Parts: sequence; structure tokens; C-alpha cells
Amino acid sequence: MKKIVKNLVLVLMLLLSSLSFAKGKLYVGTNAEFPPFEYLDKGEVVGFDIDLVKAIGEKIDMEIVIKDMAFDGLIPALEMNKIDIVIAGMTANEERKQTVNFSSPYYTANQVIILNESNEDIKTFDDLNDKLVGVVLGFTGDVVVSEMKNVKSKKYNASYAAIMELQNKKIDAIVLDSETALNYVKHNKSLKLAETSGEPEEYAIAISKKNIELLEKINKALEEIKADGTYDSLLKKHM
Ligand code: ARG
Repeated sequence: MKKIVKNLVLVLMLLLSSLSFAKGKLYVGTNAEFPPFEYLDKGEVVGFDIDLVKAIGEKIDMEIVIKDMAFDGLIPALEMNKIDIVIAGMTANEERKQTVNFSSPYYTANQVIILNESNEDIKTFDDLNDKLVGVVLGFTGDVVVSEMKNVKSKKYNASYAAIMELQNKKIDAIVLDSETALNYVKHNKSLKLAETSGEPEEYAIAISKKNIELLEKINKALEEIKADGTYDSLLKKHM
């Protein structure tokens, strides 16, 4: 009888220890159409945000599972518990703060204007008056351009679609986040940026309002990542 009890205790202990070794999964939503933050490379989602969230995963001891989806589906997916967090170069703006919590910011960007190299008449945001400007549906650039009274906008589902239309002279300009715009211009000799920039906006990780504990863990991990040099090495790698 004693032996049975001993064996039972042993089995229980084994079970418990295997449980504590199984890492919890953190489901991370992104939209891999935003280089250098997230994009597809041979079918794999890579980029600054992806490396950053993997570093966070290590700090909080969770396995990162990336879910690639449409940008405007990210916050709804978070609300429906399909994902735990969003990292997608997402600007922590007032409108979104009504629905979700944001981590402390991890990057500062601003809206810029992308033009064809040959364009000489657009220099500032005011020069966009009476022009046809491409934006990506639901991006902050879309919001900014929609607020400009005399500017007509054409909305695209993805930034590369807008870039193609600009190159084909179907639109006069594109308003997009600075780092991604720079990335496109670097890879397309026929494009340039106007020498002007909009209001700064901050990228942060979105988390459900119901999950305060996770928010705190992520903020602590972010702080460590900034302090220990990981953040700077990721900047160097991707920007
Ligand atoms: N910063 C902009 C916004 O929050 C654009 C983000 C786009 N990100 C992406 N992964 N597609 O609206």
C-alpha cells in the first residue's frame, strides 16, 4: 500500500513539472505589409516588430505565435479574443485608446509625402490641395488626409498597391508613415519624399482592456529590452 502511495506521488510530481515546462502561447496579431516593421520574406513574417515581440516573449517566458491579418481586422480580433496582443506599427491614437490599451510607446514616426521623382510642385502638405492623394484604408495617413478640406483621397487596401498607382501616375502623391515610406523610396529610384513631415505619432503594442496583467508584464519587458541594448541592436538591424 505504501508503495502505491509513493508511486502516485511520483507520478503527480512528474505531471506537475511537465506542466510548468510547457510554455504558454502568446497570440500576436500583425499585418505584414509594413516594411521594415513587418513584411513577408519567402512566406515568413519578419521585421522589427516581429523581433521585438520575440524578445518580449523571451522576457515573459511565452512562446510567440504570429497571426497575419488585415490591418483593420486587428483590433476586432483583439476584442474577440482571437489574439492576445497587436504589434503592427500601430499608432496609439485617441480613437483606438477608446477600445484598447496601449503599452508604453516603442517607436516615434510621422506622416510624410511620397512623390514621383519628377514632381516639382508638391513641397508641403498645403501643396496637396486639389491633388489626388493615395492613402491606405484605416491607416493614420487616411485619417490625416481625410481631415484636409480640399484634398481628394484614393484609398488602397495595401501600401504597395498605392505605390504602383503612384508610379503609373494614377495619383499625385501618397501620405504614409515615415519609416515605411523611406523603405519604399530606398528601393524605388523613381520615387522621392517631400521635404516636410507631419505631427509625430507613437507606435505601441495594443492589448485588450480586460488584460491589465499582460499590459504590465509587457511594459516591464519593454523597459528591460530598452535598457539592455536589445532595442538598439534591433534598430540597427532593421532601419
Ligand atoms: N501607423 C499607422 C497606423 O497606425 C499605420 C500602421 C500600419 N501597419 C501595418 N502593419 N500595416 O494606422
